[in-house]
Amino acid sequence: MTEPLKVWFLASEVAPFAKTGGLADVAGSLPPCLKSLGVDIKVGLPFYRTVKDGSFEIKKSFEGLEVPLGDTILRGDILETSTEEGVPVYLFDMEDFFGRSGLYGTPKGDYPDNLERFSYFCRAALLFAKETGLSFDVVHCHDWQTGLIPAYLRTLFKADPFFSDVASVMTVHNLGYQGLFPADKLSVCGLPATEFHLEGIEFWGKISLLKAGIVYADAITTVSPTYSQEIQRPEFGLGMEGIFKKRSADIYGILNGADYHTWDPVADRHINAHYSLGNVKDKGQCKAALVNELGLDQRFADRPLLAMVSRLAAQKGCDLLVEIARDIVELDAGLVVLGAGEDKYERFLIGLGKKYPECMAIRIGFDESLAHRIMAGADMLLIPSRYEPCGLTQIYALKYGTVPIVRATGGLDDTIKRFDPVSGRGTGFKFVEYEAEAFLDQIKEAVRLFEEGTNWMKLVENGMRSDFSWKRSAQEYLYVYDKVRKTG
Ligand code: ADP
Ligand code: GLC
Repeated sequence: MTEPLKVWFLASEVAPFAKTGGLADVAGSLPPCLKSLGVDIKVGLPFYRTVKDGSFEIKKSFEGLEVPLGDTILRGDILETSTEEGVPVYLFDMEDFFGRSGLYGTPKGDYPDNLERFSYFCRAALLFAKETGLSFDVVHCHDWQTGLIPAYLRTLFKADPFFSDVASVMTVHNLGYQGLFPADKLSVCGLPATEFHLEGIEFWGKISLLKAGIVYADAITTVSPTYSQEIQRPEFGLGMEGIFKKRSADIYGILNGADYHTWDPVADRHINAHYSLGNVKDKGQCKAALVNELGLDQRFADRPLLAMVSRLAAQKGCDLLVEIARDIVELDAGLVVLGAGEDKYERFLIGLGKKYPECMAIRIGFDESLAHRIMAGADMLLIPSRYEPCGLTQIYALKYGTVPIVRATGGLDDTIKRFDPVSGRGTGFKFVEYEAEAFLDQIKEAVRLFEEGTNWMKLVENGMRSDFSWKRSAQEYLYVYDKVRKTG
């Protein structure tokens, strides 16, 4: 019998333990699916304060791991918990680094010692494996926070027999976050100065931890097929297009899946009424409850209710929302926004909410439970992203019978098909140019269809029928693991 493939899956956020966005959803739901396909998978995550303060069953796994960082040696503990499906999750404790309120920073900006924090995590993850004899065939890294791992395997640990058969896979969830730090801090991460060059960790005179991951990994994946192509072009490559082009034979675009244990109105523990294709009308109860909860005018229990659940960042198309927000009032539609992020968007939206309290509900902050109730209660979800590596909210919205209105980019383009009233096919509304008018046209079209009724139900049901469960995508990851594996 062949040994199961062993994967060490390292990410800076994993739901339900620590989350700021979709990476957590992916890192929380892909490993259990891989486990069900026979992979021996273990997950590693920093031991943030939110994890410590959560109600998870946690035990000590290892005490006093010695981890070099710059010219000092730190000693940290490793704790252990697991996902509901029994995937072990190792938590890397270093109170000075991770015992803080945020994962990466405060609303004022990034923590100044993020290079130290994530260099520590990367190095500790490899040293812990070695120290405890936890052997693996593939280390699967995600975004800049774990980008040093492939670099370590090719440099610091190159001659170490424990790691000689280990392959690395780097998943790029968002090229907009490149893990940039000043060049003179190279010694912090412990890489030799000889790696600071065009084909190494150097990026426009700085260190880029994301680039390190891309350059040194055996394979690169992105979270949708379209994004894997887009990043090889200057409009989306953000200066890294040349690097991706060079590695194009090793890039795989694998669409994210949805965790339907968490995101399905049939059993969602956060919502007011459960429904599915057989009783879509009960979605109306969720809508009425949401209108009440948010203090909107009662007429919005029947009028179209638009929503946005998102980080408030330029990536997410917030500028377009700013431009058309007042037109939504003209259409006599309601608007619900749940989000947190850049100050200028937060302030604009708060102002809008105050001006139109009856038809707009603006909630600034991160609220997992409310996100579910909005998904169930709204009629349409707005996702006008400037770029979108995959996007998960549009996939969740489909399951909740909430019609996505998206810009045709990245994973949004891959997952949403424009509704055609003649054939009755399609799952949402889509616009191409990044322009307010194009966005508003789609909203108007959606409102018109909603008011007309018959076709709307068809559209809602098409979405609810769509299936983005993880299995197929997980099999594509297995294919990539198999391609790069040096063992077996
Ligand atoms: P991204 O990772 O770029 O933020 P995704 O669409 O992939 O975008 O994933 C976003 C995830 O974060 C979804 O699970 C969404 O529900 C959640 N989310 C975003 N903003 C908030 C918020 N303010 N409160 C609660 N959940 C949020
Ligand atoms: C990123 C992207 C988003 C993607 C998520 C999970 O944060 O912005 O599009 O869905 O990662 O892969």
